[in-house]
Amino acid sequence: MNHDFLWGGATASYQCEGAWKEDDKVKSMWDHYLHEENLENGDIASDHYHRYEEDIRMMAEGGQNSYRFSLSWPRIIKNKEGDVNEKGIEFYHKILDTCKKYGIEPFVTIYHWDLPQYWEETGGWLNEEVCYAYQHYAKVCFDNFKDKITHWVTFNEPKWFICSGYLIGNYPPAHQNPQETIKAAFHVMYANALGVKAFREGNYPGNIGIVHSFTPVNGIDDTVETKIAMRYADNYCNNWILDTAAKGEIPIDLLTALSKIYDISFIKPKHLKTIKENTVDFLGLNYYSRTLVKPYTEGETVLIVNHKGKESKGESKVILKGWFEQVLHDPNMTYTEWDTEIYPKGLQEGLIEVYQRYHLPIYITENGVGVQEDVSVDQVQDDYRIAFMNDHINAIMNAMDEGVDVKGYYAWSSFDLYSWKNGCKKRYGLVAVDFEDNLKRKPKKSYYWYKEMIQNNGKTI
Ligand code: NOJ
Repeated sequence: MNHDFLWGGATASYQCEGAWKEDDKVKSMWDHYLHEENLENGDIASDHYHRYEEDIRMMAEGGQNSYRFSLSWPRIIKNKEGDVNEKGIEFYHKILDTCKKYGIEPFVTIYHWDLPQYWEETGGWLNEEVCYAYQHYAKVCFDNFKDKITHWVTFNEPKWFICSGYLIGNYPPAHQNPQETIKAAFHVMYANALGVKAFREGNYPGNIGIVHSFTPVNGIDDTVETKIAMRYADNYCNNWILDTAAKGEIPIDLLTALSKIYDISFIKPKHLKTIKENTVDFLGLNYYSRTLVKPYTEGETVLIVNHKGKESKGESKVILKGWFEQVLHDPNMTYTEWDTEIYPKGLQEGLIEVYQRYHLPIYITENGVGVQEDVSVDQVQDDYRIAFMNDHINAIMNAMDEGVDVKGYYAWSSFDLYSWKNGCKKRYGLVAVDFEDNLKRKPKKSYYWYKEMIQNNGKTI
């Protein structure tokens, strides 16, 4: 095992910071949407804004050597003119200095879904101008933090926030429009390339990558029909992000299929040139489960969506005609409380496939299990989380034995936080946060297990 391996936990600004309007922070699209809809919000969340020192100290005491977190655009850039909020910059300097003090390597995401509301009001990711605004914001981050950050991530999970926001409609801006989905998706991948371009042009130290919500695709059998469905599913689930970011190429069969139904004339040669010339240095993969597919049969393709509170369960919604169908439940498999299939083998196989395709270093930037837990006890006995992480880390080690260049692993999440539409009840943390009792922090059993596993250099049970 390589001693430079990064072991840590991950969070995201909106999900943990709270302090939603402190120190001149402006509203994000999430602040706006959740307040408008009167839904549980992240106004306070885990209050990491005020308790970051305790949180980072606990990471170090838990044997971790890295912390993956995100910067908040609406904390850093005040308005459409691009003016910088020095207080926002100051806050992240404090986090970075605390990381340094405790020997924690920062791994930093520039965009984890909290678009400033002032940009959402101009059309958000449907507006090409937002891509250039993102590039400006990224450059402000590089310029201010270049001496303290060497692991940069342009975007967290483009598929998840774009499809949830524009196709399924359960995230802001809550549209259900395939044509818009394609445009917003393209703009995000273009903005990714613009971010990489700014990073290269500025000659900043370190590396830059993208984080993808990775779901390797398996088929129910070996028939040609299933193979065709698998290719559609892989394009939809993975390739439009990974091929575009790593190779600078949008899958041509995907573009051909889309162009038969939708208008893609907004894609111009100048965009494609920027995408081709600005590919990433590494891939971050968030792994929770795989996608099991069968051929399209009933006239419409269905995907699981959430209209009833849970992120991965709910009524099915017709979205894309004729591509593939997802097997939603296999009686032989085990599922989490939120109906996510537990499938560590998918991580091992997926890592091998991704490495063969792109030959880039890989970080597992998120992995974990969301559960409702009673945190009033002295210590949450989360043996299910230990089993989950153990089996996934084991899968990573097996992939590494087969030659895959994995450089780090991040548990989602470092501590309990606000889980988007699932509110604070869906807990992923290694450390419990008691949202009912003064936001008290208490390590769970998994925190100690993780510490020992790290000390043993990745040795699983
Ligand atoms: C993906 C996202 O990056 C994160 O924000 C989310 O809370 C977790 N996975 C769990 O769903």
